[in-house]
Amino acid sequence: MAKQKVRHLEGALEYLSSNWGTCTPKVAIICGSGWGGLADVFAGSRSLDYSEVPGLSSTTIEGHDGILRLCEVNDKQVLLFQGRRHWYEGEGWEPISFPIHLAHALGVKVIILTNAAGGINENYNVGDLMILHDHINFMGGNPLVGPVIDDAIPRFPDQTEVYNSELRKIARQVALKQNLLVREGVYIAVSGPAFETPAEIKAFRTLGADAVGMSTIPEAMLSHSYGMKTFALSCISNMAAGMSNEKLSHQDVQNASTQALPKMQAFVAQFLSDIL
Ligand code: HPA
Repeated sequence: MAKQKVRHLEGALEYLSSNWGTCTPKVAIICGSGWGGLADVFAGSRSLDYSEVPGLSSTTIEGHDGILRLCEVNDKQVLLFQGRRHWYEGEGWEPISFPIHLAHALGVKVIILTNAAGGINENYNVGDLMILHDHINFMGGNPLVGPVIDDAIPRFPDQTEVYNSELRKIARQVALKQNLLVREGVYIAVSGPAFETPAEIKAFRTLGADAVGMSTIPEAMLSHSYGMKTFALSCISNMAAGMSNEKLSHQDVQNASTQALPKMQAFVAQFLSDIL
């Protein structure tokens, strides 16, 4: 069967090279809810609005700026997607997958995914960081369904170790160096946009999930299938439904991540400088 081409990929590559000249990042970061402030700690940032770049359509959710940045860390280029698209936005997998296709086409070798998540593990606290050890895909679909879009992606990708163990080890060492309590756990993703019911959270705990969110797994499945080293980090922005007396709101999720931002920035900055 003839392979499909990723729509807009050539146009995006041309647009980046005409605006930025040489663009050869080895690391790309996707910022989830509350993580956009990562951009503030990196030097030399050049930026483009998502709406200008073919294939990168505008974000629709508050807290997701929709800016593509080319930053410098230790004199090396790092591509930062400041804002992500979600399955629940209803535009299919293309807007979610495109940043990963673009990163791969640019030669990126390491993908760092970030998100805000609800804590399911009873030992976790709001503001904790969690390294994703593994995941449970409860979204009801994934971006690999359909024709094989790129020869670099196998039809039946292995998922024994989606989240690279060497990168997880380096992250644990950064946590030790910074004297920071960083959890390592299993992330379960649902489609959203509604938060879960208390009964669902109880069920997810029984399944082995430590945190719940509405993102990350699609990008992780794709980047890992491409052979890129994949690392993901959650900020526990709330305890999941039924675990506290609070009702859940996106505003509270954003506020908690904003409070934890200095810790998130310091952790990612050190992690990047250790891997670059
Ligand atoms: N559930 C799902 N997604 C989330 C949550 C939650 O409690 N918090 C942040 N993203």
